[in-house]
Amino acid sequence: MHSLSSVLALLVTASIASPVAVEETQTLEARTADQYKRWDDMNPLAKRNVNPDTVNVLTPEQLTAQRNALLLAQSETAREAILFPNPPNASNDTFQFINNTVTPPTGGTIFLSTINNFPALGATGLAQAVGFVNPCGLNTPHWHPRANEFLTVVQGSLIGALILENDNGFGNVVGGPAPIIGALPQINTTLSNYTGMLFPKGLIHWQFNNECEPAVFVAGFDTPDPGRAEAARGFFSAEPDEVISASTGFSDFLTPAQIKGLRPTLTSSFTSIVESCAKKCGIPFE
Ligand SMILES: *[C@@H]1O[C@H](CO)[C@@H](O)[C@H](O)[C@H]1NC(C)=O
Ligand SMILES: *[C@@H]1O[C@H](CO)[C@@H](O)[C@H](O)[C@H]1NC(C)=O
Ligand SMILES: *[C@@H]1O[C@H](CO)[C@@H](O)[C@H](O)[C@H]1NC(C)=O
Ligand SMILES: *[C@@H]1O[C@H](CO)[C@@H](O)[C@H](O)[C@H]1NC(C)=O
Ligand SMILES: *[C@@H]1O[C@H](CO)[C@@H](O)[C@H](O)[C@H]1NC(C)=O
Repeated sequence: MHSLSSVLALLVTASIASPVAVEETQTLEARTADQYKRWDDMNPLAKRNVNPDTVNVLTPEQLTAQRNALLLAQSETAREAILFPNPPNASNDTFQFINNTVTPPTGGTIFLSTINNFPALGATGLAQAVGFVNPCGLNTPHWHPRANEFLTVVQGSLIGALILENDNGFGNVVGGPAPIIGALPQINTTLSNYTGMLFPKGLIHWQFNNECEPAVFVAGFDTPDPGRAEAARGFFSAEPDEVISASTGFSDFLTPAQIKGLRPTLTSSFTSIVESCAKKCGIPFE
């Protein structure tokens, strides 16, 4: 295991032009906070600027009222009367994806515009996400129950991976091929900036920033309510516990007691970082 100072040395040599010496007298907590601050300084994305004219200032109640009025509106003219009573002001037609507060070791953050936080989407059949992926950040395996996703990396680099569909294990006819047992195929690739990857509706996928630099993606969805289901959290939520043991086909793999112990740790959001990468990049890892 790396000591904190060797990790820090790695961080300094790997990524900073003007290294700052850390006093030996600093506490572990102070050093760690110092490292986060240094990540912030190194990371231009930590200082994203917001144009106040593009911020939708409506309250949650006003957004709900606007969404409902738009759902009842029968024409584009009627929708425009709701959205744009004050031209040329475009604030009901813009969505601010920026959040300044996420720093490592948080893996990153995703902002998704939906019909609820950006009602103008309602009549369009679209949604969009912007993901700010910190070094070593993992967008945990998940699927979108209602949307195809087309994700484009616009800064840095991400590994994109897609688990392919069950082939003929379902609905095969008498005399047809036997169900296939074992791992489903995964396709994966490294997406550097401006490369897009398609994640079809309902298929499990994940992205991972294996670099020590931040990455950013923009993802379009073909519904204003794509939804998201975490693969691990969904699977391990099934009860009784023996249902999970049995469906792995190998009951010694995880006992019901182990499954019960696992449930409280299942992550539901985009917060994970990958330990081996964190060590490589000198990011404090709990
Ligand atoms: C945005 O839409 C709301 C109606 O939902 C309207 O009251 C408000 O004036 C609009 N804002 C602008 C800047 O046009
Ligand atoms: C646009 O409208 C919003 C909400 O009413 C307001 O806060 C903002 O100042 C307006 N912007 C301009 C350029 O008038
Ligand atoms: C920004 O991110 C922080 C940390 O993830 C979160 O607590 C906060 O609610 C976010 N702000 C907005 C406006 O979404
Ligand atoms: C991303 O694009 C910029 C500008 O073209 C380039 O300098 C950088 O090396 C690229 N990064 C990756 C990871 O491909
Ligand atoms: C890509 O998938 C292969 C097998 O499907 C796996 O062995 C490999 O670790 C994956 N690569 C990454 C970077 O995830």
